[in-house]
Amino acid sequence: MVRILLACAALCTACDPPAGPADPWAPAAVRLRASVEAAPYDAWTLHVLEAESPHGPWSAIYTDARIDAAEAAPVTDPATAQWPAGATIVAEGRDAEDGDVVSLQIMRRDRSGWLWAQYDADGEPTLYGTDTACSHCHAAGDDYVRSLDLPR
Ligand code: HEC
Repeated sequence: MVRILLACAALCTACDPPAGPADPWAPAAVRLRASVEAAPYDAWTLHVLEAESPHGPWSAIYTDARIDAAEAAPVTDPATAQWPAGATIVAEGRDAEDGDVVSLQIMRRDRSGWLWAQYDADGEPTLYGTDTACSHCHAAGDDYVRSLDLPR
């Protein structure tokens, strides 16, 4: 009996998943959502409300004060043109113009690039990081922003 138990213990240990490095962006994605909810982002500028977005049947795009301030100050050197560090944009995917939020997308700039994160209707992060499927599609925009041009 003891031998069987020992064998089981050895087997169970072998089945444990290897201890790998934790996903470094997962906590950042959780913090990012908490910060925009606390702002709260739905008091920011509602910049775009449009149908048939990649982010839902409707999308509502909110820009923070850093984006709004940058829009008022034209870029003088196009070679270094980028949205300011800390700038944050939230895109709600909605099921109708005034409908429920079906997904939440957030992008926040730092000096080196954007942090991207997407959440499901329950607010759980589903996709996040600095180099993601998001950036590949958003590369078509001015400094990766699809719905706003950098002020020039
Ligand atoms: C298939 C292309 C595509 C992919 C992939 C994509 N987006 Fe978008 N996104 C758009 C387009 C187009 C807009 C412009 C406005 C709209 O229709 O919602 C947009 C708008 C946004 C906005 C508002 C700011 C802006 O750029 O206009 C945010 C924030 C955003 N997306 C985040 C994300 C995140 C986070 C991901 C990855 C999880 C992602 N997007 C993946 C196409 C895409």
